[in-house]
Amino acid sequence: MTMRNLDVRDFRRALAQFPTGVTVITTLDGDSQPVGVTASSFNSVSIDPPLILWSIDKGAYSLETFRTAEFFAVNVLGRDQVDISNRFASRGEDKFKGVEYSAGAGGSPVLQDYAAQFECKTWAVYEGGDHLILVGEVLDYRYQDIQHPLVFARGSYAVSASHPSMVKLANGEHSSEFIGDYLLYLLRETYSRHSDGFYKILQHECGVSPEQWRVLAVLADNSGMQVAELSPLVMQPEVALEETLSWLLDQGVVQRLEAGQVGLTEEGKLLAERLVNMAKIHEANLLRALPDDQAELLKNSLRSLLQANG
Ligand SMILES: Cc1cc2nc3c(=O)[nH]c(=O)nc-3n(C[C@H](O)[C@H](O)[C@H](O)COP(=O)(O)O)c2cc1C
Repeated sequence: MTMRNLDVRDFRRALAQFPTGVTVITTLDGDSQPVGVTASSFNSVSIDPPLILWSIDKGAYSLETFRTAEFFAVNVLGRDQVDISNRFASRGEDKFKGVEYSAGAGGSPVLQDYAAQFECKTWAVYEGGDHLILVGEVLDYRYQDIQHPLVFARGSYAVSASHPSMVKLANGEHSSEFIGDYLLYLLRETYSRHSDGFYKILQHECGVSPEQWRVLAVLADNSGMQVAELSPLVMQPEVALEETLSWLLDQGVVQRLEAGQVGLTEEGKLLAERLVNMAKIHEANLLRALPDDQAELLKNSLRSLLQANG
């Protein structure tokens, strides 16, 4: 059975519900120049022999280099390497300028910073529709427990955190006295519990996803922005942001402006205003749980913590 009238954008959104890590896959080209691409298609295959795979778009500039490469290296990125991910997701040359690396198996660049690294010998190359599937035999690997991996989910960069239910709550009391009194736990738990509630309201009442909301909220404060400027503010790499924008363009709430900028349409301004008001109401309802003067105090304290050195 084949799927007829596949809505490509919708299909991509369905696939993006599956979170992945982010890697930069590297090799050397025929002139021994370093080549690298950002890839989230990395996965484990086999333990014995140790095999991994990833897939490369047949439209990629570096397709031929990877198709014929004898060796390649997989650099699994850490949470602080969003810039590296964005840099290697751009097309073409000079991606390694200013990036620190050394030579791994067959000379494939291994980055100085990483969450994990796998130095591989190409084991097989398979056809995979508009991608090639590259399987590598792992010759060497290393990882750093201290480095949290960067996550990519629903087109946005994210960080992984223990699931809230991992911290047991019994009769409203925390099973651990320490956790129940630990600032970072309290901050994260408060955020995840209440942001989920707000995202549900956005989805049900306006059909807007968290990714779309972030774009609308940032554009509401700017008459026009370049996609490259918007990308770090909404934590979406440009390729994924273009998908979010194309939905917003279709809805007539975002428009392309001069000089590659995007901005809200009049309809978009009304929608953004409505969403911002909904956020304010949600916030006010939440803060109602606090005595009058405590809300401002809490916000000021959080601002001070944000400015303090980590
Ligand atoms: C988070 C993220 C994941 C990506 N995953 C892949 C992937 O698995 N395979 C792929 O071919 N391209 C992937 N891309 C897109 C490539 O990084 C991008 O097309 C890049 O331009 C390829 O480099 P090249 O054209 O210089 O070869 C991804 C991009 C991002 C931002």
